[in-house]
Amino acid sequence: MAEKSFKYVIVGGGVAGGYAAREFVKQGVKPGELAIISKEAVAPYERPALSKAYLFPEGAARLPGFHVCVGSGGERLLPEWYADKGISLILSTEIVKADLASKILVSAAGESFKYQTLVIATGSTVLKLSDFGVQGADSKNIFYLREIDDADQLVEALKAKKNGKAVVVGGGYIGLELSAVLRLNNIEVNMVYPEPWCMPRLFSEGIAAFYEGYYQNKGVNIIKGTVAAGFDAHPNGEVKAVKLKDGRVLDADIVVVGVGARPLTTLFKGQVEEEKGGIKTDAFFKTSVPDVYAVGDVATFPMKMYNDIRRVEHVDHSRKSAEQAVKAIFASEQGKSIDEYDYLPYFYSRAFDLSWQFYGDNVGETVLFGDADSNSATHKFGTYWIKDGKIVGAFLESGSPEENKAIAKVAEVQPVASSLDQLAQEGIGFASKI
Ligand code: FDA
Ligand code: NAD
Repeated sequence: MAEKSFKYVIVGGGVAGGYAAREFVKQGVKPGELAIISKEAVAPYERPALSKAYLFPEGAARLPGFHVCVGSGGERLLPEWYADKGISLILSTEIVKADLASKILVSAAGESFKYQTLVIATGSTVLKLSDFGVQGADSKNIFYLREIDDADQLVEALKAKKNGKAVVVGGGYIGLELSAVLRLNNIEVNMVYPEPWCMPRLFSEGIAAFYEGYYQNKGVNIIKGTVAAGFDAHPNGEVKAVKLKDGRVLDADIVVVGVGARPLTTLFKGQVEEEKGGIKTDAFFKTSVPDVYAVGDVATFPMKMYNDIRRVEHVDHSRKSAEQAVKAIFASEQGKSIDEYDYLPYFYSRAFDLSWQFYGDNVGETVLFGDADSNSATHKFGTYWIKDGKIVGAFLESGSPEENKAIAKVAEVQPVASSLDQLAQEGIGFASKI
C-alpha cells in the first residue's frame, strides 16, 4: 500500500486531538500539512457529554451538537471544517505499530503514514473486569464507557430493558455520573464499590457523605466495602445477576462498570521514556524522542505549581496541553520560545441537578463549609484543603460562576489559613474576598 506523508500527524482524534487541530490552524498550518488519525468513526468531540446529556431520556445530546470546541465555549469543528482547512481527518483507522526511529505509523489495514512531527493523543482506555479474571465478565449487557460506540450500545440497552435493573460497579466518576443518568431513565440502580466512601481519590469523607445521601434520596442503593466477584448469565448470554464478594447476589439487566482507566501508551513502549504510567514530557509536552510530543491523558508532565510531575485524566488539561504543545512546535520551528506550562488542576462533574468544581491540590487537612445536608433544599457547600498553613485546593457544589472563579483564585493564590474554624465559618465568603 502507498505510504502517505505529512509534516504533522496527530495520533488520536479525541479531545486533545481536536483542540490541537484548532491550534495548528491558529498557528498557520498550511493545507496538506496536518493529518489526524483516529480509531473512532467521528470527528473529535467533547467526551464528557457521553456520560451526561448523551444518555438523557429526553432531549439527548447527539453529534454534530457536541464536536470540539463547544465544551469550552469555542467554535464547533464539524467534519467540513477539517476539509476546509486542508486537514486530513483519517477516521476509523487504528494505528497498530509506531516506529519512532523511522517516523512511520502503520494502521490495522496496513497503511503507512510518515511524519516529521508527531503528537501522541491516544488518551486512555477502560480497565476491564475480565482483565482481573472476574468470572462471567464477558456476558452481554455489561458495559464500559469511553467512546461514542460504547455510549450507543448503552442507549440501545436502555431501550431494550425499559424500567429494568442495573448494577453500577465502581464509585468514581463513571459510577457517580452513570448511576444518576440511569435513574433519570427510570432504571433501578445498585451501586457497588470497595472503598468506605465514593470518589475517594478526590472527595473527603464529608463531601462524599452529601453525595451518598443525595443519591440514596434519588433511589440509588449504595453498597460499599465489596466488589463484583462474578456474573450469572441467561442462556442467551445476557447478564442476569452480579455476585458480590461478600456473598450478596444482585439481579441485573444491565451492568455498567467504571473501575478506572489506563493511558494508551502501548504503541510506544520501549521507544520513549515513561513515568507514572504515562509518557514523560517537559513543560512543552516534548517527549524524550525528538519531534515527538504527547498530550492529554497520556502525558506525565511537570506540574510547576507543586514542583512535581503528574498525569491528569481530565478534559481541561487535555485541551490546554494540546494547545501548549502546538504552540511549542511552531515556536521551536521559528527559533522562538514560549512560557512553560503552568497548570492549575481543574476538575468538574454534573449529575442530577448537582454541579461541582474543584481547583488545585487535594492534600492536607480539610475544612467543610456551608450547607452539606443532602436533605436540605438549599444545599450548597464546599471544602478547602490546607497544607503547610496555606489553602491549596478548593471544592464547591452548586456555586455561581463568580463563586467558582473565586475558588479557582484561592487555589492559584494559596492564601494563608490562619484559623480553620474561621475558614469553616466564612466558607465561600473567604474565597470571594481574595
Ligand atoms: P481521548 O480519550 O479524548 O481521545 C483519544 C482518542 O485516541 C480516541 O478517539 C481514541 O479512539 C483514539 N486512539 C487511541 N488509540 C488509538 C490508536 N492506536 N490509533 C488511532 N486512534 C487511537 N473530564 C472532565 O474534566 N470532566 C468531565 O465531566 C469528564 N467526563 C468524562 C466522561 C467520560 C464518559 C469519559 C470517558 C471521560 C470524561 N472525562 C471528563 C475525562 C476526559 O474526557 C479525558 O480526560 C479527555 O477526553 C482526554 O483527552 P485525550 O484526547 O487525551 O483522550
Ligand atoms: P475512577 O478512577 O474515577 O474510579 C474508579 C472507581 O472504581 C474507584 O472508586 C475504584 O476504587 C473503584 N474500583 C476499582 N476496582 C473495583 C472493583 N473491582 N469493583 C468495584 N469498584 C472498583 O475511574 P472511572 O470512574 O472508571 O473513570 C474512568 C476515566 O474517565 C477516568 O480517567 C476519569 O477521570 C474519566 N472521567 C472523568 C469524569 C469527570 O471528570 N467528571 C467523568 C467520567 C469519566
